[in-house]
Amino acid sequence: MRLIFLGPPGAGKGTQARIIEERFGARQISTGDLLREHRARKSELGSQAEGFMQRGELVPDALIISMIESELDAHAGTGFVMDGFPRTIAQAEAFDALLTRKGWALDGVVLFDADRTTLTQRLTSRWTNPRNGRTYNTLSNPPRVIGIDDEDGGPLVQREDDKPETVATRLDVYEAQTKPLVAYYRAQGVLIEIDGLAPVSDVTSALIAAVQKRGE
Ligand code: AP5
Repeated sequence: MRLIFLGPPGAGKGTQARIIEERFGARQISTGDLLREHRARKSELGSQAEGFMQRGELVPDALIISMIESELDAHAGTGFVMDGFPRTIAQAEAFDALLTRKGWALDGVVLFDADRTTLTQRLTSRWTNPRNGRTYNTLSNPPRVIGIDDEDGGPLVQREDDKPETVATRLDVYEAQTKPLVAYYRAQGVLIEIDGLAPVSDVTSALIAAVQKRGE
């Protein structure tokens, strides 16, 4: 299974990518998580990306494209769910060229959407387990004990870019730089549109049904 998950911050891309990875073994490749790992180990790429991420802006295309190429080379042969990549037309064109070189076809580009008020509420109430990326939400999916992961018992943290003012920038950046990809992939005939406002399990069911229908 080879999918791209597209949609604004907070639409549920990461939540659904982790579910698809668990059920179908298609590896979740989250450019946001990869960049946060680079920052945590203070790599050259991590320090180049830091300021952009703190401001809620996109990291330059050239850095992202080379990071994705290395990631796919390291995990050749497995399916994938691209979570948060591509995010610009330049990234999408580079990814198309890479897929052609590898002889891989996409099973679909899934667009999750939700309104700005919901997205802002979800992001500002999100808590993450930094050890494995699992997310909770104090409004819709709280942990049993506030601030503690249900499964590994370790602390949950809030992402620095989930502050209200940075969330507003991220949503604006999505509208200006990433939303044009909706028309790009619609023109390729691969776009699958899913209502991201539905409960998590309903979103998963709709997504799996739509991907299977496309494969028939
Ligand atoms: P990244 O980490 O990719 O963040 P994002 O795209 O802004 O996406 P999020 O992780 O915030 O949202 P999501 O859609 O995954 O939602 P989630 O499932 O967590 O990127 C961070 C930064 O890295 C960028 O700003 C940029 O600087 C840089 N970057 C990354 N990729 C880049 C690229 N390709 N090019 C350039 N720069 C790049 O859900 C959110 C919350 O809602 C959670 O609490 C969850 O529990 C809850 N929730 C999810 N689904 C539902 C539902 N159906 N109902 C109710 N609650 C739900």
